[in-house]
Amino acid sequence: MVDRTQRPESSAKPGADQAYYFTVEDSVKVVQDRSGPNADPRVKFMVDALVKHLHAFIKEARPTLDEWAFGIKFLTEVGHLCNDWRQEFILLSDTLGISMLAESINNHKMSGETESTVLGPFYIENAPKYPNGANICLDGKGEPVWVYGQVTDAEGKPIPGATLDVWQANEDGFYDVQQKGIQPDMNLRGVFTADAEGRYSFRSAYPRYYPIPHDGPVGRMLQALDRNHNRPAHLHFIVSAPGFEKVTTHIFTPDCPWLRDDAVFGVKESLVADFRRVDDPEKAAQIGLANPFKAVEWNFKLARE
Ligand code: BEZ
Ligand code: FE
Repeated sequence: MVDRTQRPESSAKPGADQAYYFTVEDSVKVVQDRSGPNADPRVKFMVDALVKHLHAFIKEARPTLDEWAFGIKFLTEVGHLCNDWRQEFILLSDTLGISMLAESINNHKMSGETESTVLGPFYIENAPKYPNGANICLDGKGEPVWVYGQVTDAEGKPIPGATLDVWQANEDGFYDVQQKGIQPDMNLRGVFTADAEGRYSFRSAYPRYYPIPHDGPVGRMLQALDRNHNRPAHLHFIVSAPGFEKVTTHIFTPDCPWLRDDAVFGVKESLVADFRRVDDPEKAAQIGLANPFKAVEWNFKLARE
């Protein structure tokens, strides 16, 4: 173990390829070379890469000292806004496309399995469990939707007993947790279990687009960049089954004005669904929805673990 309480000998001279004193040209190497022989290899790899890219950023952007201080103040404000209910750092990561990049490189699907997207801040564990066909729209508001489909493996073999955890915003673009006392608790959320053929179904309401939280530093950044702060309308799903990789995903409505300008870059082409308008009083009565209604068939393909 290197004793870091001892100063190196004053006569110490840089070795042939060791950098001791800071120069703009050698800045990356000077910082990287400070790690000792007992550095954790993964931490060293990560921090070295971060230093390399951050120094390249500073050399390219050449901030003034006032701009550097502004950046520090911005990140400090981001941190101060984080608590159990608000995660401004994740929002910053989302709006810079970093969350989607991390998500996508960790969930690279090779055989047409369902693609993943961001989890978002509005997921709640332990939503009510419902039988297939149930209506998760507890206040009856909004345009009725029938959602149904099958959960299979990559080859199309059904996965009986797969779990589908669903949540979404209402027709006004709000989640239940944002409208306590206005929407019933657990409105537009539910957990379903696929039947013996891997099939699931539920009734719901057509969601609307909504703004991400934009009253903090991330919102100011979006405004300064003249960027949209809305997310296109979607339903969230977490689909899981023993022996398969869990997928965190969405289905997007096809007619949303923000589909091509998602504030958090969550839209993948394969996740845009076809919601049909059905005008069929008999079918509506059979399902238990008002006529006409929207219907979407959405099948999930899970990757084996
Ligand atoms: C969401 O879809 O719930 C969401 C995702 C990222 C940021 C804000 C909201
Ligand atoms: Fe959402």
